[in-house]
Amino acid sequence: MAEIEQGDGFETLAIHAGQEADPVTGAVVPPIYQVSTYKQDGVGGLRGGRRSAANHAGVGSGPGRWIEGYEYSRTANPTRGALEECLAALEGGARALAFASGMAAEDCLVRTVCRPGDHVLIPHDAYGGTYRLFDKVLAAWGLTYHPVPVSDAEAVRAAAQAHAPRLIWVETPTNPLLSIADIGALAQVARAAGALIAVDNTFASPYLQQPLSRGADVVVHSTTKYLGGHSDVVGGALVAGDPELAARLAFMQNATGSAGGPFDAWLTLRGVRTLGVRMDRHCANAAQVATMLANHPGVARVYYPGLPDHPGHEVAAKQMRGFGGMVSFRHAGGADAAVAMCGRTRLFTLGESLGGVESLIEHPARMTHASVAGSPLEVPSDLVRLSVGIENIDDLIEDLRAALG
Ligand SMILES: Cc1ncc(COP(=O)(O)O)c(C=O)c1O
Repeated sequence: MAEIEQGDGFETLAIHAGQEADPVTGAVVPPIYQVSTYKQDGVGGLRGGRRSAANHAGVGSGPGRWIEGYEYSRTANPTRGALEECLAALEGGARALAFASGMAAEDCLVRTVCRPGDHVLIPHDAYGGTYRLFDKVLAAWGLTYHPVPVSDAEAVRAAAQAHAPRLIWVETPTNPLLSIADIGALAQVARAAGALIAVDNTFASPYLQQPLSRGADVVVHSTTKYLGGHSDVVGGALVAGDPELAARLAFMQNATGSAGGPFDAWLTLRGVRTLGVRMDRHCANAAQVATMLANHPGVARVYYPGLPDHPGHEVAAKQMRGFGGMVSFRHAGGADAAVAMCGRTRLFTLGESLGGVESLIEHPARMTHASVAGSPLEVPSDLVRLSVGIENIDDLIEDLRAALG
């Protein structure tokens, strides 16, 4: 039976953390425990439970069990627990929680750490759904948000001094403009301001970047994207470095019932096992796509942190293992040309989402980011976003060249 040891590498953890052979049958992958409730051995006598990731992640309060056993699947489920233990190990956190979607994870986090009347700083180019959550849902709950350029640590420091936020929300790279925030610098800003700092690590994945190791308090994921990796499941996750904060998040998750189902957890975990090899190929393909676009007359500007002239290139090189699989660009022909191109590709499928093995193309202003139209977060209308998949790179380049005309 594979046992995780301190110092095991990322790829080893992705395949073995939380995934010991099933003690009953020897099944080498965690079974789908499609079950709502559990037989108890006498009142309060719960069976099973999962080890804390703290012992192999080197973070948190040390070995121990965070769940005493199973009673009801909203509270804990063995398949979800396997995914959670694996994610905690991959992010180097004390504990992870798996949700029904990335948005469910975000909502749980904010309502756990904030109270009505609090202020939050958010990226001025955040994912549209994150903006919508703050603007349309949490504002009505009494939370005030302030958009800031998170790539500018001094601007964030000034905003933190002006607004005394409870939480600084960071996305890096951001969706869809791929700007880069210096996680370590912003963690210092947050400490000085007495704020918590959360990093949405969806675009990078823990293979490329581990925000907790740079001072973040919580990592947020839409596991729908690179972690799942196959465009077949929607999910989210929170990973906390501090077991006490993790316990508060778990309380909220259980109290509000936002956990993901066992089959979704199983599918996500299947994707996680190949995260490293997929990300290597995503990065290599995206770098070639970005270079081709940067030299193409039909393209006005390319946003990819791997390009040396990207303003966040040095920070990205410092805190990321690779530059990721997302590339955005502005079409030289304007908005109509950008929209037309999105309908002309053969392999790049026109669709929302990202991070799957297949390449996707979309027009953020009319699709993923329609909810920020007219707001300070509005995206350029000539912007095209690519999720570069792991197909043959020559085929992908040829497809884009043909569609650009
Ligand atoms: C950066 C980022 N965070 C969060 C989310 C929300 O995740 P989900 O769609 O799984 O709810 C998304 C979705 O696209 C995203 O791109």
